[in-house]
Amino acid sequence: MFVMASIPDGFDQISLTPDRLRDVLELDMWAFPTSDSLEELLALPSPLTWERTRGLVRSERPEELVALHSSYPFGNCPVPGGRLKVAGLTWVGVHPQWRRRGLLRTMIETHFEDCRDRGEPVSLLFAAEPAIYGRFGYGTCARVLNLTLGRGAALRPAPGAAEVTVRVQKLSAELHGELVATLHGAVDRPGWVTRETPELKAVWFDDSPLLRDGREVARIMVAERDGESVGYAVFRRKGKWGPAGPEGSVRLREVVAPDAAVAHALWSRLLDLDLTIEVTSGMLAVDDPLLSLLVDVRAARGTWQDNTWLRVIDVPAALAGRRYQAGLDVVLELTDQLLPDNAGRWRLTAEPFGAVTVERTGQPADLALDVRELGAAYLGGTSLTELAAAGLVTELTPGSLLRSSVAFGWPVAPVANWIF
Ligand SMILES: CC(C)(COP(=O)(O)OP(=O)(O)OC[C@H]1O[C@@H](n2cnc3c(N)ncnc32)[C@H](O)[C@@H]1OP(=O)(O)O)[C@@H](O)C(=O)NCCC(=O)NCCS
Repeated sequence: MFVMASIPDGFDQISLTPDRLRDVLELDMWAFPTSDSLEELLALPSPLTWERTRGLVRSERPEELVALHSSYPFGNCPVPGGRLKVAGLTWVGVHPQWRRRGLLRTMIETHFEDCRDRGEPVSLLFAAEPAIYGRFGYGTCARVLNLTLGRGAALRPAPGAAEVTVRVQKLSAELHGELVATLHGAVDRPGWVTRETPELKAVWFDDSPLLRDGREVARIMVAERDGESVGYAVFRRKGKWGPAGPEGSVRLREVVAPDAAVAHALWSRLLDLDLTIEVTSGMLAVDDPLLSLLVDVRAARGTWQDNTWLRVIDVPAALAGRRYQAGLDVVLELTDQLLPDNAGRWRLTAEPFGAVTVERTGQPADLALDVRELGAAYLGGTSLTELAAAGLVTELTPGSLLRSSVAFGWPVAPVANWIF
């Protein structure tokens, strides 16, 4: 049985419409402090999909929005071996006056109900703070690298790189909208959500000074082969002069390079822009080809952190919605405090990269885990063995952990390369 959202006494849940944009932004400014003014924010395009946006108000003052959440429709989200309808939970905020009264819990329960109604078996999010979402069954499913490279960092040769030409232009929706949508949407990396709605596309191309962090307008390098656009990098430079000369920097926002030649062509130009001394990468997958292209991998200084968090909302639909890289016949014993109809024993059988079946079973379980750990492992970027080593997955039948871990893994590491 599915759990209906419980609303704390004295509050009501409402649907939000575009005429409440001012209230939405005002509340968002309470939740996420900013030096930008409300008028400045009102002038920006809104990324929201309004029919997926809900608020909470106090019953006695319904005009005052006290909490808000929304989600983006990622109808074509890459998962291992396929594409799935995924909800991207976003714009989660509660006014500080009304926090810790259960409003987030209400919004999460509502979000899960809405996902079920829309047939979205998985929810994905970026966590503002990592302590928030585990309790709701979200697990860290992807990790990301943020790297800084000195100008001129050498790359190993890549066959065909000389045949790729690069043109550098000011980023524009008119000129580059279609090529960015096509190339970004074609990337087959698990968790690589793309901008599917007109609102998200418009926001991505918006170049308001509020979004530049003191940097120049957005630039794009378009890689071409035989007259066809095959990849791109979007970046902003910042000019700076030090006692010994130029100390400018490049901040990369997004690179799409479908093969080594394109990656080489783009990175070699990014690493050699005049008046700059370093390039900071956007969010790179932990297996980004840059790491293998660098002659000296230690030239890349950086940090890693959690990227997206994933919640399995409909266990059979989610497990059957991906492929497995080895044959598997396993019984999973799941716990799920929020969605009890996910809990219990599921038999998963899979052919390597092929047919999958998922069914309820009364057979003894091979592995026991919480839905949070299933979410962490779902995109193939966090291994079940790693989770078991941390005491989060229990092997009940010898050998099942290794077999399941291999099958759930994936040759391409997951990442979402823009924050939604
Ligand atoms: C994070 C936020 C949405 C939580 O809203 P809230 O209404 O206070 O949350 P709830 O009262 O429903 O709390 C639910 C549970 O989460 C816990 N929790 C909430 N926020 C937390 C945080 N930032 N860190 C750790 N735990 C948190 C609560 O203690 C509570 O735990 P319990 O179930 O064990 O009692 C709110 O504080 C907020 O808007 N923060 C600023 C913006 C933000 O970070 N938004 C999230 C964007 S991803």
